Amino acid sequence: MKLVTAVIKPFKLDDVRAALSQIGVQGITVTEVKGFGRQKGHTELYRGAEYVVDFLPKVKLEIAVADGDVESAIEAITNTANSGKIGDGKIFISDLEQVIRIRTGETGEDAI
Ligand SMILES: Nc1ncnc2c1ncn2[C@@H]1O[C@H](COP(=O)(O)OP(=O)(O)OP(=O)(O)O)[C@@H](O)[C@H]1O
Ligand SMILES: [Mg+2]
Repeated sequence: MKLVTAVIKPFKLDDVRAALSQIGVQGITVTEVKGFGRQKGHTELYRGAEYVVDFLPKVKLEIAVADGDVESAIEAITNTANSGKIGDGKIFISDLEQVIRIRTGETGEDAI
């Protein structure tokens, strides 16, 4: 199993959610976050210390998927979150050791 973490532009959330539903994704966790990529990491000196300014609002999606569904999830996100402009976001893929469905006690891919 993999954990797909995507940071996208907030206005793309509805489209991305719909595309993920379309390919059969069973659940998504959404968090409002702030961040910066390559262009927005201005730093400034404040009382002698360097601070990063210009955090921009983004939306973070977390989606647990079976190994066989990773590519279609990546495709759904990239196709819909791409505006062609800077700041469209990133997708991070990590190994997911275990998933437990609390109500039923199911584990692994059955729990996704
Ligand atoms: N290396 C990173 N680690 C963690 N989060 C990141 C990283 N790069 C980008 N992000 C997150 O993704 C958001 C969008 O990044 P962004 O799309 O601007 O990346 P970029 O590399 O600057 O690409 P682009 O040139 O298309 O803007 C950031 O605001 C931040 O929340
Ligand atoms: Mg950027």
